[in-house]
Amino acid sequence: MKLDNYRLKLGGKEYVPIMIGGMGVNISTSRLALEAARLGGIGHISDAEICAVADSEFGTSFVKEKRNQYSAFSNDSNKSKVQFDLAAIEAAQKLYVSKTMEAKKGSGAVFINCMEKLLMNNPAETLRTRLHAAMSAGIDGITLSAGLHMRSLELMKDHPRFHDVMIGIVVSSTRALKIFLHRAVRLNRLPDFIVVEGPLAGGHLGFDIHDLDKYSLKDIVLETISFLQKEGLSIPIIPAGGVFTGSDGAEYLEAGASAVQVATRFTIAEEAGLPEHVKQAYLATAKEDVIVNMVSPTGYPMRMLKQSPALQTSMKPNCEALGYILDGEGKCDYIKEYEEALKANPGEKPKVTTKFCLCTNMQQYNCWTCGALVYRLKETTNRLADGSYQIPTTEDIFLDYQYSDNHSIHLPNPIGQEVIRKASSA
Ligand SMILES: Cc1cc2nc3c(=O)[nH]c(=O)nc-3n(C[C@H](O)[C@H](O)[C@H](O)COP(=O)(O)O)c2cc1C
Repeated sequence: MKLDNYRLKLGGKEYVPIMIGGMGVNISTSRLALEAARLGGIGHISDAEICAVADSEFGTSFVKEKRNQYSAFSNDSNKSKVQFDLAAIEAAQKLYVSKTMEAKKGSGAVFINCMEKLLMNNPAETLRTRLHAAMSAGIDGITLSAGLHMRSLELMKDHPRFHDVMIGIVVSSTRALKIFLHRAVRLNRLPDFIVVEGPLAGGHLGFDIHDLDKYSLKDIVLETISFLQKEGLSIPIIPAGGVFTGSDGAEYLEAGASAVQVATRFTIAEEAGLPEHVKQAYLATAKEDVIVNMVSPTGYPMRMLKQSPALQTSMKPNCEALGYILDGEGKCDYIKEYEEALKANPGEKPKVTTKFCLCTNMQQYNCWTCGALVYRLKETTNRLADGSYQIPTTEDIFLDYQYSDNHSIHLPNPIGQEVIRKASSA
């Protein structure tokens, strides 16, 4: 059975049932998302650190302006006054989304991944601004993730596109789903799709770090399907986390899911935002390099490679320029730990091991987050004569997912350098 035997029906349209998940900060670039749409699937851009992303994509200077405005607070541990300019967030989001949507070709769709945990020192207003700007700029859909999103629908409801934009939520349990649906029913706006993310996913994880082994994506998906059936709700369910071959995906569709969300296999795509040396590091990874820790100041467990440069250095918090994790009262767990390290060894460069500066490390591609099966990426491409791996295109990976049968992986056509070993024997 192949994924291509199925179609995802959403908002009166049909898609190839492959959704490329949001990967901030600018790993799931608009180039990557646009390729998914061109091929008839769904791609995600992400609005994580949107001002920094707009600057790098379009040469704007949102980050510089914010840093200049608040430079006086750089030695102050209280960042409560370091506020985002809502007009700047709106402008950056509109620029990014509208440029992406103008370039869209093909029968697929481009959605935006919106993480609630990016509190941006003013949680409700900044989120409202992000959501409204994305809808105004023509995004096809919004995927609400990293948080329960208790207020998000309310924040969106006075936008004219509230009922026509596709809205989905990422959950890791039926418990979280029930809480969200309770609100959604009250607002008469059910989600159009539900991404069920299991413990093998990349990025932040919606599980207690000690419980990861207790859960399996398959069980949570089956539980969600039967919960929705009992409630008489027909909402497409989209499993995510560890769907490594198209056949893995097809098995979920046979079991009643409507599509799959995948990410790790696309981290190494030509169109993905990670620098080339990081893509090569992902490809060369061994199973024991993959860890889950609590160093993210969001309080969620996060999966990453233990070689991540973010784990080797401690930097001064950079909230004047970035500040996406500030909680609304000017606080972030990394600032707290950094201040304590400063006090413990005055005059020395602080070394913080319990937390890291998520904003700067994600923006600089120094936190190498990945799904649990990242070490299998070497099976998906060719090893080249110089020892490096061939970087596949988004199209190579997408079509492999779409047409794979019996868990086979179709390698990209060798280009450029001579191939010394096929990936499967590398
Ligand atoms: C590098 C990377 C970054 C990610 N960043 C985000 C993110 O910013 N927001 C989010 O909701 N999920 C994020 N995820 C999770 C993916 O969107 C997706 O649901 C999950 O990783 C799918 O599992 P897979 O990677 O095993 O295919 C990220 C995943 C990866 C691999």
